[in-house]
Amino acid sequence: MSAASIPPGSTIGVLGGGQLGRMFAMAARRLGYRVHTLAPEHDTPTGQIADIEIVASYDDLDRVREFARAVDVVTFEFENVPAAAAAAATEVGIVRPNRHALEIAQHRLREKGFLRTIGVPVAPYVEVRTEADLLDGAHRIGRPAVLKTAALGYDGKGQIAVHQDTDIVAAWRSLGRREAVLEAFIDLEREISVIGARGVDGDLSFFDLFDNTHRHHILDVTVCPAPVPTAIAGEAIDITRTVLEGLDYIGILCIEFFLSRDGRLLVNELAPRPHNSGHLTFDACRTSQFEQQLRAICGFPLGAPDLIGPAAMANLLGDVWADGEPDWAAALALRDVKLHLYGKTTPRPGRKMGHLTALGQTAQHARARVLAARDLLTRTRPAEL
Ligand SMILES: Nc1ncnc2c1ncn2[C@@H]1O[C@H](COP(=O)(O)OP(=O)(O)OP(=O)(O)O)[C@@H](O)[C@H]1O
Ligand SMILES: [Mg+2]
Repeated sequence: MSAASIPPGSTIGVLGGGQLGRMFAMAARRLGYRVHTLAPEHDTPTGQIADIEIVASYDDLDRVREFARAVDVVTFEFENVPAAAAAAATEVGIVRPNRHALEIAQHRLREKGFLRTIGVPVAPYVEVRTEADLLDGAHRIGRPAVLKTAALGYDGKGQIAVHQDTDIVAAWRSLGRREAVLEAFIDLEREISVIGARGVDGDLSFFDLFDNTHRHHILDVTVCPAPVPTAIAGEAIDITRTVLEGLDYIGILCIEFFLSRDGRLLVNELAPRPHNSGHLTFDACRTSQFEQQLRAICGFPLGAPDLIGPAAMANLLGDVWADGEPDWAAALALRDVKLHLYGKTTPRPGRKMGHLTALGQTAQHARARVLAARDLLTRTRPAEL
């Protein structure tokens, strides 16, 4: 144990209250840590597992400082924590990853600018701050394109597809004429992600690549390992290493990549935290992304990220509840499937409520099993009998 490490028994502060914080808190508790969480809501997925749940606005900087003082290290579980809150926490305590990384990842223009300066390829884009930027940019980027707000987007919120006939000025208006990025639509071969960790001593660790399928811009199914050529996998990991080092990062970072049909590997975006595509690491890797986050921010050696076997994860959105309570017993009867639920009480459509993981002989086999399990959850609905 190095002198700088934060030992078991210490307290970790998690800014944010969602499922990422919940699974992180589970990993932290398993290693004997205490967890505090601060979020604006009560009885959050993280708060249900934490020792102490503080309900406060992230803009209440006095509460954020008080929170940071009471813990040994502060981390966050989603990137839209206001920069001022991260700065306030940094004034009084250790924040990992650093607030600079958070500020870059939470703003698409800063993020793309940073990636460009370190020589990482991104989709062609223009910055949109005025209507003139938009019209001139639309001319340069062409169509189809995607218009995305620079800040506060997630799960496809805050973005609009720009087709041949889209009124782009109206599209921007519907996004509140906020600062935005207009980027070329990429003809996708597939989407992959790399989850890497960097420790206090600069040591690095990477999970196998994840292959991600989205539905309505929300992650639907992840398969690991991703079926990509070794050269592409190597390139994606090299990029992740460059970003981790460029940000002097401590903790888990996920990079979402586009692999275009014409063979280009482009960075879509950075997530400065554990990521939905890494949920299967809980069941399928020697060290989960959540334990890895804990090890990194506490200054311990990183864990072995090895995949125990090919695996797949399917998200459970609120839609699964459309006709009533899902048939949990049907999925739980499958020996190769694990169920995770986040303790959320209101299953709204599109809301991430839980996920299923399956292990299989091959990634495709695991994928088929996890989809079969998800199917079983709703198959016995009276409406379909
Ligand atoms: N330029 C693009 N070309 C093709 N597809 C795109 C493009 N931009 C976004 N998409 C599709 O929309 C999905 C969501 O986009 P993006 O990751 O930018 O949004 P987000 O709202 O930040 O989502 P999240 O934070 O949940 O990952 C992508 O994973 C991809 O499937
Ligand atoms: Mg994304």
